[in-house]
Amino acid sequence: MIQGKTLVISGGTKGIGKACVYKFAQNGVNVAFTYNANKEIAQAICDDVQTQFGVKCKCYALNILEPETYKDLFTQIDVDFDRVDFFISNAMIYGRAVVGGYGKFMRLKPRGLNNIYTATVNAFVCGAQQAALRMEKIGGGSIVSLSSTGNLVYIENYAGHGTNKAAVEAMVRYAATELGSMGIRVNAVSGGPIDTDALKAFTNYEEVKQKTAELSALGRVGEPNDLANACYFLCTPDASWMTAHTMIVDGGTTFR
Ligand SMILES: NC(=O)c1ccc[n+]([C@@H]2O[C@H](COP(=O)([O-])OP(=O)(O)OC[C@H]3O[C@@H](n4cnc5c(N)ncnc54)[C@H](OP(=O)(O)O)[C@@H]3O)[C@@H](O)[C@H]2O)c1
Repeated sequence: MIQGKTLVISGGTKGIGKACVYKFAQNGVNVAFTYNANKEIAQAICDDVQTQFGVKCKCYALNILEPETYKDLFTQIDVDFDRVDFFISNAMIYGRAVVGGYGKFMRLKPRGLNNIYTATVNAFVCGAQQAALRMEKIGGGSIVSLSSTGNLVYIENYAGHGTNKAAVEAMVRYAATELGSMGIRVNAVSGGPIDTDALKAFTNYEEVKQKTAELSALGRVGEPNDLANACYFLCTPDASWMTAHTMIVDGGTTFR
């Protein structure tokens, strides 16, 4: 159905991004993904994906704190791939870059908050702009931003991320409204807590994991594939009239 098309995704080395790389590749989609710190892991994923699924897979360095470099990234991708059909804005910063952004309200600081805005909203805008220029040439495509239900319900220390996820969902709706005439659909996938390194970086990881399983109607925390499957669906023709939408994939946790 979408065999032979090309996905560009940021942050494909682990977690949800890696699950997307495998999901799309399994279905015959060529993949260009980015890494930040983990070059060797990225190359090993490329080799594995090409061997297992016979698709083209290449990895590129990208720092989403410098979102304007998306322009150079896509220029490189133009050399290696003949088309861009799908773009998923997935990568997220952690560690020192989020100091002053990850924490309680009274400890928030402009620098940390600005970094999260850059990594969440600016990176989506710059990446989606470059992707849309390529999609326009081939008559359309699908763009997806990862989001989180931490913009709907309280998650301890998550004010910086949660507010920026709300912002990126609004940006998705603006982009969808203006890119629809090019045949480009733009949506967000908003996940409840998913068991990845990003969640493990939470100071209260074990507590969040246990609480999520308790809150979920399905009795478990989310897995990367739970969100990758939703991203994939939004890129297939089965989602042909879905745009400007946020798909919530949370195991029922947000309602409780
Ligand atoms: N985990 C959750 O509970 C959850 C829930 C809902 C939504 N989400 C969202 O889903 C997305 C992926 O989250 P995840 O949990 O899968 O994260 P993750 O496992 O921590 O992976 C983060 C990815 O981002 C890359 N990255 C880190 N810093 C970067 C930088 N400065 N520039 C470019 N890339 C960078 C990493 O690359 P390297 O390995 O090369 O450093 C890695 O590929 C995020 O947008 C997150 O907010 C997560």
